[in-house]
Amino acid sequence: MSDPSSSGPRAFRTLGIETSCDETAVAVLDADGSVRVNLVSSQVAAHAPYLGVVPEIAARHHLEALPRLLAAADGAVGLDSVELLAVTRGPGLIGSLLVGTSFAAAWAWARGLPLVGVDHLEGHLVSPFVALDGSPARPAPDRALVLVVSGGHSSYFLLEGGDPRPLNRTRDDAAGEIFDKLSAALGLGYPGGPVVDRLAEGGDPTAFRFTAPRIKDPRGALDFSFSGLKSAAIRLAVGLGPLPLADPATPPQAVLDLLASFRRTVSDWLLAPLDELVERLRPTVVATSGGVAANSELRRRLQAWGRSAGIEVVLPPLALTTDNAAMIARAGQLRAARGTLDDPLRLRAYPRAPWKAGADARGRPVFPALYWPMA
Ligand code: KG4
Ligand code: ZN
Repeated sequence: MSDPSSSGPRAFRTLGIETSCDETAVAVLDADGSVRVNLVSSQVAAHAPYLGVVPEIAARHHLEALPRLLAAADGAVGLDSVELLAVTRGPGLIGSLLVGTSFAAAWAWARGLPLVGVDHLEGHLVSPFVALDGSPARPAPDRALVLVVSGGHSSYFLLEGGDPRPLNRTRDDAAGEIFDKLSAALGLGYPGGPVVDRLAEGGDPTAFRFTAPRIKDPRGALDFSFSGLKSAAIRLAVGLGPLPLADPATPPQAVLDLLASFRRTVSDWLLAPLDELVERLRPTVVATSGGVAANSELRRRLQAWGRSAGIEVVLPPLALTTDNAAMIARAGQLRAARGTLDDPLRLRAYPRAPWKAGADARGRPVFPALYWPMA
């Protein structure tokens, strides 16, 4: 008789590599998804003078930082026992992705290790279920509703049996992007989310009101649109006095009120589709991830929503909200368990999201699930 324990999916001790944007990250996870080491080298200081990420600078930084981080991971937990390599293939900055994918493919090939290419969003989707206290990763729930909010994405996904389906999208700017743009206009620096979040604590969130966008396409009724909010907030800021602020460390009270009202509006709009999605899709768990999932108001309100709705809300540890390699390693483990491995000699990086049901004729992602569960 066969041993039932050997018939389950194979689990691997995994090295994860993430270089899709402006953070170089390396992590090692045990086969059960517990995080042994999670290292991130931030490039924020290199990009701050430009108020955004400069692709060429990002790629060069990855090239320098990746060997350094791998040496540190080797010193901390040893890389000889690694059994699987997981690397972000896309979407992201192509030069940055090429550094990570070329490195991982060469490493896997030279050592004869299995390799799995992971979609960056797949990483964000599993990050709420990864812990940083040494405990095993939680198995992804059968039916989780996950709000992914970052500098590049603002979408609800249904994660069902490991298969992610996008449910809505932003018609223009991503939520993190408008935090960054407002911050830049005020002279508060980059990235904007953390500083706006902190200053908003000192303001009155009811001081300013913003008009919610109206999306006419009925199939996009649950879509987001944030560019109008960005423009309105910047216009109001201009009306409050000269920009950039003379003393960004201690903005006037009216600016704090504006930031608090802005932050309140972003979380209002992000949470607006929640009741309808839960009603239609009946998830067992609601989670959020991505850089904006570090936002203290969004976290508080989502937890309060969960208590009143009687649904479990899972928030990732703060260090796993922004880009990291632990989430990539975990997504790689789940892919490998489903038997999806990549040939190191054929691994291709891609700059744009190629969601399952594909891209449109011009290579732009389409969001099939808009039409699927909403029909
Ligand atoms: O996930 P992430 O590291 O990179 C992308 O894939 O985009 O997200 C970075 C974004 C930035 O726009 C940053 O301003 C935003 O997340 N962010 C926040 C907070 N912390 C980071 N936005 C709002 N509140 C925060 N506390
Ligand atoms: Zn990200």
